[in-house]
Amino acid sequence: MRIGVLTGGGDCPGLNAVIRAVTKSLLRQCGAEVIGIRNGFAGLMGEVPQTRPLDWDSVSGILMQGGTMLGTSNKANPLRDEATAEQAMAHARSLGLDALVAIGGDGTMAIAHGIAQRGLPIVGVPKTIDNDIVGCERSFGFDTAVATVTEAIERLQTTGQSHGRVMIVETMGRYAGWIALEAGLAGAADVILLPEIDYSVEAVAAVCRERERRGRHSLVCIGEGAKPRGGAMTVERRVADSPDPVRLGGVAHALREQLQPLLESEVRATVLGHVQRGGTPTPFDRVLATQFGNEAAQLVMAGQFNRMVTLQGERLASLPLAEVAHQSRQVPLDHPLLRTARQIGVSLGEG
Ligand code: F6P
Repeated sequence: MRIGVLTGGGDCPGLNAVIRAVTKSLLRQCGAEVIGIRNGFAGLMGEVPQTRPLDWDSVSGILMQGGTMLGTSNKANPLRDEATAEQAMAHARSLGLDALVAIGGDGTMAIAHGIAQRGLPIVGVPKTIDNDIVGCERSFGFDTAVATVTEAIERLQTTGQSHGRVMIVETMGRYAGWIALEAGLAGAADVILLPEIDYSVEAVAAVCRERERRGRHSLVCIGEGAKPRGGAMTVERRVADSPDPVRLGGVAHALREQLQPLLESEVRATVLGHVQRGGTPTPFDRVLATQFGNEAAQLVMAGQFNRMVTLQGERLASLPLAEVAHQSRQVPLDHPLLRTARQIGVSLGEG
């Protein structure tokens, strides 16, 4: 049996841990040959396929490394036209692949679904720091991102406190507020603004003013997809208008401009950006990624294809790719963490 492995979409702490677990599990349990495809689906799109063999030694010592040893791409889509799709399928045939393990986010799962429909058996492994994959309660990379953002918030708290300022910190997460919500709670933010709840600038200012009166600084944690109520530009609009459709960011600076005239304190904005995606995975993410990789290998060996590994409660499971492609999972408005935030007096910017 010959199995391909690729990582697609933005990188994420824990990708190497998945590659290692898939490879070791397949080598050890069925003696399969494992072929790494380089740079995501781009590795199946050029004149010749870009690959590297994955043996026991090549995946040893990578568990704790950030990034991906195979490289990745969030632009390459072999389904963009018929000729490219045919070429990718021809490359898969020439490599003698019996199946492909595709590790990636919603975009990668959508491509994987299309490739599966063309006849290459696929197992998907969900990856994203955003934690926004449907049917999967926790994706690896999220815990690491939350830890990174929490540490940054703690640092912003001490400088904000020293100067009596209002500190705004912008997190990644696209259309989902999971990172902002969990890191905001962990870092003792006073206000947490999420894409799921349009905020009132006046409500945010009121929280900061009340704290100013008590001689306290404020910390506002805002997810990159958050928008003001009745705001001029929604995330969808910005994405559609952008030459680079996945590049968001800038909401912290916009909020700073709106807040400053309403407050006595100085307002400062920090955009954390890609620091949230880099570095070594936390122990939790190493273990989850290892479980996901091993589970993907089990699905391959059991011949259960065109499915994505998931975590449901404490249990590993899998879902048909068709059910997860082209979708993303936002924070539900009745999520217990939102209730907790409100009940302990953290503002969600609702006026
Ligand atoms: O989906 C992961 C993510 O890091 C988002 O949180 C962010 O909006 C996007 O990727 C950034 O992508 P790029 O790598 O194109 O800057």
